[in-house]
Amino acid sequence: MAATDAPVSRIRRLPDALVNKIAAGEVVERPASAVKELVENALDAQARTVSIDLRDGGAALVRVTDDGLGMTVDELPLALERHATSKLARDEDLDAIATLGFRGEALAAVCAVSRFTVTSRARGAAEGLRLGGEGGAVIQRLGVPCETGTTIELRDLFFNTPARLKFLKSPPTELSATLRALSQLALAHSEVQLRVANNGRPVLTAPAAATLKERIGALWGWDLAARLLTVDRAEHGIRVAGHASPPDVSRGGRDDIIIIVNGRPVRDPALLQAVLAAYRPILARDRFPLVVLAVTLPPADVDANVHPTKAWVRFRHPRLVQEMLVAALHDTLQRPTAAPSTVEWAASGAAAASSRETALVGAQSALFAETAAPYTKAAAFGRVLGQVQDTFIVATTDDEVFFLDQHVVHERVLFERLETDLATGAAPSQTLLFPDPVALPPAARALLERWRGPLERLGFGFDDGPGGTVVVTAVPTLLKGDEPRRLLEAAVDELGGPKAGEPAVDRALAFLACRAAVKANTVLAREEMERLVAELAQTRTPFFCPHGRPIVSRVSMGDIRRELKRTW
Ligand SMILES: Nc1ncnc2c1ncn2[C@@H]1O[C@H](COP(=O)(O)OP(=O)(O)OP(=O)(O)O)[C@@H](O)[C@H]1O
Ligand SMILES: [Mg+2]
Repeated sequence: MAATDAPVSRIRRLPDALVNKIAAGEVVERPASAVKELVENALDAQARTVSIDLRDGGAALVRVTDDGLGMTVDELPLALERHATSKLARDEDLDAIATLGFRGEALAAVCAVSRFTVTSRARGAAEGLRLGGEGGAVIQRLGVPCETGTTIELRDLFFNTPARLKFLKSPPTELSATLRALSQLALAHSEVQLRVANNGRPVLTAPAAATLKERIGALWGWDLAARLLTVDRAEHGIRVAGHASPPDVSRGGRDDIIIIVNGRPVRDPALLQAVLAAYRPILARDRFPLVVLAVTLPPADVDANVHPTKAWVRFRHPRLVQEMLVAALHDTLQRPTAAPSTVEWAASGAAAASSRETALVGAQSALFAETAAPYTKAAAFGRVLGQVQDTFIVATTDDEVFFLDQHVVHERVLFERLETDLATGAAPSQTLLFPDPVALPPAARALLERWRGPLERLGFGFDDGPGGTVVVTAVPTLLKGDEPRRLLEAAVDELGGPKAGEPAVDRALAFLACRAAVKANTVLAREEMERLVAELAQTRTPFFCPHGRPIVSRVSMGDIRRELKRTW
């Protein structure tokens, strides 16, 4: 082989400009991602006001101006380089990230794929510095008088990456993606004022808000915000707080389910599923809730460093976070105010929901609520068709098919009936003619003493028997068929279990309702099913049992028709 034919190495180090372009490809997918990065930087710099000017949804121009800390003349050139950040100093910082940014990549990335101008003046500095250039290379450097804060302008996004440019959608589509990203950040940071204009016209204005509800009002409308329910639960070092729609306010898509983790809007399929699971019993399959939930937990329990756009996070205890979300939503959705009137939730389905929403918009809403149609009984679940597996009652309206868990239905009915009894005195009680002494271990006796008050209000009667035994002198009428000894043991067992924090009477009530309710695997006559379903429809909370389990599974006829390709 001739010397001149010696193989040349095919592997070479890429020039910096190309490396930056490749890296930018991961961070900047479309104008929305550039806007997101710039606004996140402004928020990290403690801005109070952020103004965003767009042309063509951001494809032609993105200009983000903030009144935050700004950068000094020494910092600014560094900020444009890759792997340069003020947000991480030591290795350990990566384990507990407290800022939105931390990779030191975003500015370098957006500048690598645009014609850019970056102007900044640090607090206390006499004047600002402006750097301009394109494709990541700085061409111009200029001292300028300007306000404290930072303005970053990107023109002609992807001008030097034709492949990416080709994938840009129409300006309205890009604008809507940009506004979606901005709304999420706006919801995560209510205290910051945001102004967004596109082609010179204001498209989103959110004044600094004192509460999340106020912010939701500015973004989604005040009437809607007023109808949302409050969510707030803190446990195990995790807090879940925010707002969620009642069952009669819903959407055709999932865009308005927003989950924020330590100030960062995230896309997390498992958390999304948790929200959907909480709503499953109360929404038809093709309807989705509006939810804004802020999850706050120690930074060391979340890893934000799992995806270049930082839209995904990983939790140290994912199951716990999911369960907290479901529990927080259950708390809210089980509250009596969450259940719409029978009339409203009977008419589900897209058409009904949208007409209802329209009807409620505007100044008339209060009036409308007051003059709502009269309470029509038992229309909600429609006609009872029968029983499946001796456990589920099947009923149908024109729009939906319902599967109701007979035990849980009955439990809910009894629970509310007992609540009413208690509100007007004591629950009905049956005195035992031949009471038996029951021997209980000391721990169980102590527990019984603790629960004596609520149990007596529910209709139990106790006396001290010989040799430290307990004599059951009366039982709630609902449980008169139950053997007193087994009943007492079950009560002690249940009340001694976890959930120590719940109100005593509620737990005793739930125990009683569960004990007395018809069991699964029990054949029911049609009249019994009809009565149960009619009674359920009249409860205040027909969606969850007192323990928080769902009562109803529903399938919309719309889904069934679509699946079977029915065109009418
Ligand atoms: N609007 C701004 N105001 C003040 N400082 C800023 C601003 N934007 C960027 N900086 C500074 O420039 C640095 C680099 O910004 P860049 O967005 O590239 O990285 P980052 O925010 O640290 O991390 P990430 O790549 O995850 O966003 C930041 O760490 C910050 O110090
Ligand atoms: Mg950043």
